[in-house]
Amino acid sequence: DRSVKIAPSILSADFANFGQEIEAVEAQGADWIHVDVMDGHFVPNLTFGPPMCAAIAKHINTVMDVHLMIAPVDPYIEAFAEAGADVLTAHLEAGAHTHRTLQAIRGAGCKAGLALNPATGLEEVEYLLDMVDLICVMTVNPGFGGQKFIHSQVEKVRRLREMIGDRPIHIEIDGGITPETAPLMTQAGADVLVAGSAVFKGGSVSDPAPYGENIRAI
Ligand code: DX5
Ligand code: ZN
Repeated sequence: DRSVKIAPSILSADFANFGQEIEAVEAQGADWIHVDVMDGHFVPNLTFGPPMCAAIAKHINTVMDVHLMIAPVDPYIEAFAEAGADVLTAHLEAGAHTHRTLQAIRGAGCKAGLALNPATGLEEVEYLLDMVDLICVMTVNPGFGGQKFIHSQVEKVRRLREMIGDRPIHIEIDGGITPETAPLMTQAGADVLVAGSAVFKGGSVSDPAPYGENIRAI
């Protein structure tokens, strides 16, 4: 389905070669580049911060989709916006003042994304619908690539698409996307699929053709 965007997560790329990995995966058909920022506090893993994002941004010709798995979020919004984030996504679970966070993200000139952990219901999303450009439904517990898809989230996405109605809001799915799980989510109403291990497996910057095959298989 051409209207569905594939956003490879560089969490599964070679960390010593992000520039070349991004150029390879874009040449192989990636629509967006998904950048996972982890703080070792909100999630039990560490990746990188704004300086690395700024370096990565120079190699992205599509959309830089920054997923913040950090708490607190607000003190860092300006820095990630300046680093070149096009979409900046914060977790609903990261703080008590999500409305303020989303306002600040838009105020910094980014599209505002809201991510929901698998355990989080949709009730708290209702009064944020006019504040978001994207809702990211996590289909794994955030922190690591290569985890198993949580099937209960298919029904959640179907209900979320109903809630959204004709508002121009993307539904992004993050975690465990494979050629088997992807169609369940696009049928339920998702239009952006993040995929890390399923895109980068079997390829490398010197042999990038598998990236393209993997993207087309999703
Ligand atoms: C998980 C990250 C995901 C992850 C997806 O915490 O937010 O973006 O890299 O990896 P896969 O596609 O391997 O589940
Ligand atoms: Zn992510």
